[in-house]
Parts: sequence; structure tokens; C-alpha cells
Amino acid sequence: MNTKIRQVLYQAIYESGEVLLRHFGKVKNVEFKSTEFDIVTEADKESESCIINVIRSNFPIHQILAEEKVNDITTASEFKWIIDPLDGTTNFLHGVPIFSVSIAVEQQGKIIMGGVYHPIARELFFAERGEGAWLNNKPISVSQISEISKSLLVTGFPYERSNIDRLIPYVREVLVRAHGLLRLGSAALDLCYVACGRLEGFWEFFLNPWDTAAGYLIVEEAGGKVTDFAGNPYSPYTRQILATNGRIHNELLSILSQ
Ligand code: IPD
Ligand code: CA
Ligand code: CA
Repeated sequence: MNTKIRQVLYQAIYESGEVLLRHFGKVKNVEFKSTEFDIVTEADKESESCIINVIRSNFPIHQILAEEKVNDITTASEFKWIIDPLDGTTNFLHGVPIFSVSIAVEQQGKIIMGGVYHPIARELFFAERGEGAWLNNKPISVSQISEISKSLLVTGFPYERSNIDRLIPYVREVLVRAHGLLRLGSAALDLCYVACGRLEGFWEFFLNPWDTAAGYLIVEEAGGKVTDFAGNPYSPYTRQILATNGRIHNELLSILSQ
């Protein structure tokens, strides 16, 4: 079963990546979702349809939880596909080449496989539970850095601006203590960059399951640690995430749990 799921995930992620490349730099229609900053474009929708078609033609009764439209989580299947067809829509709209497709597979409530594809860089991050994590088929692992002062970190900001004030104290504290702090604009890629050792840690409030489900497994299988801000194990349905190389986890936790 896992071999077939892996093949379908690869097919869906590569095909949707091509859809995004076709639309990149040419977005025509922008619609608003929860706020004036939370947008969806024809690229998000076409990428999602492409992924759903590939999954449905291979696994007609698997559950699907996808950001833009499809929520089909009532079938009796033990498998659920969790999909962000375009993570980094704001970057995409502005022509910034940092965005990804994220696809995870959950079995009986446990994430068993995850893929994140950055089509511009042609980088596919992939992990399978208990088997490891890879970037373009080469094994990856988290960095060895154990001090925040030597760490390059990344975070993200929510569309709901009434939440911003809560984030500022953490950002301030990290800016004082870390080597650097980035905001790349794709949570799925943030996680993968921690997994492959480019960055030491990532945190964000108010994310959704499709933003983090695949990247979480990629970080864990690369030897990193993923929790909420109280140090509890990660769940895609909890809206806080802290992912690190493990070595700086407690130090960052002490900042985020204040
Ligand atoms: C967003 C990105 C961004 C994060 C936002 C997400 P979207 O996803 O992951 O990095 O900071 O919180 O909503 O809307 O581009 O799929
Ligand atoms: Ca997203
Ligand atoms: Ca998205």
C-alpha cells in the first residue's frame, strides 16, 4: 500500500508544481477569503483540482482535507490526504519565487508520509515514518548548532491582524538573542529548511493542518523535534508549532511559553 501511496503523492506533487509554474507571474483573478489579506487565486484552485484528480483516480474513497475546497473526511477510509495546493500565495501573487505544494498522508490519525515541493528550485522534500527524510532522493538531517546565538530562525505571521500584538514580544526576544530571523512566507518550506539544516528553528501561531502536516514529518524524520509552545507533541489540529533541530528546542520553548 505504501508504495502505491508514495507513487501517487509524487505524481500529484510534481503535476501540481507544473500547474503553479504555468501561472507564476501571470495571476489574473484574486478572491478574498477570511480577511482582505487572505487570498486565493486561480493557481491555488487549479493546483488543488490537479492533486484531487490524481488522488481520486487512484484512491476513490480516501478522505481528503484540502485548503481551498474539498473536504471529504466522512468516508470510512483509514487514510486522509492533507493538502495545501499553494503554500505561499502572497509571495506567488507578488512574483516572489518562494512557494510550495504540501501533501501529507494520515493513517488512523498518524501522519505516515509527507512531501513538500518547491517547483522553482526543483526541490522535493519527502519523508516516510520510520524510514527517513530526503531532499531530491538524498537523505537529509537537521543542523548540529546548539546555541540560539548561532542560529538562523524563521517565523510567519497570520492573516488575522488582530492577533499580531501577541506575537511581537516573541519576535523581539528572538531578534535580541538569535543570529538571525527570517520570514520566508511558506510554512511548509520553513519546516523543510529546518529539516535539511539550513535553518535551526521555526515557530508560528494560528496555522492550519495543511500548512504543517507534511513538513512536521520531514523535520521529525530528519532528526528534529516538533511540539506546541508548551512542549506537547505536535498535532496538525493544534494551531501552534515549534520545530527545531532539537538542540535549541528548550531554549526556544522557554521564550514561547512566557
Ligand atoms: C501561509 C504561509 C505563510 C504563513 C501563513 C500561511 P498560504 O499559507 O504558510 O508562511 O505565515 O500563516 O497561512 O495562505 O500561503 O497557503
Ligand atoms: Ca498554507
Ligand atoms: Ca495555501
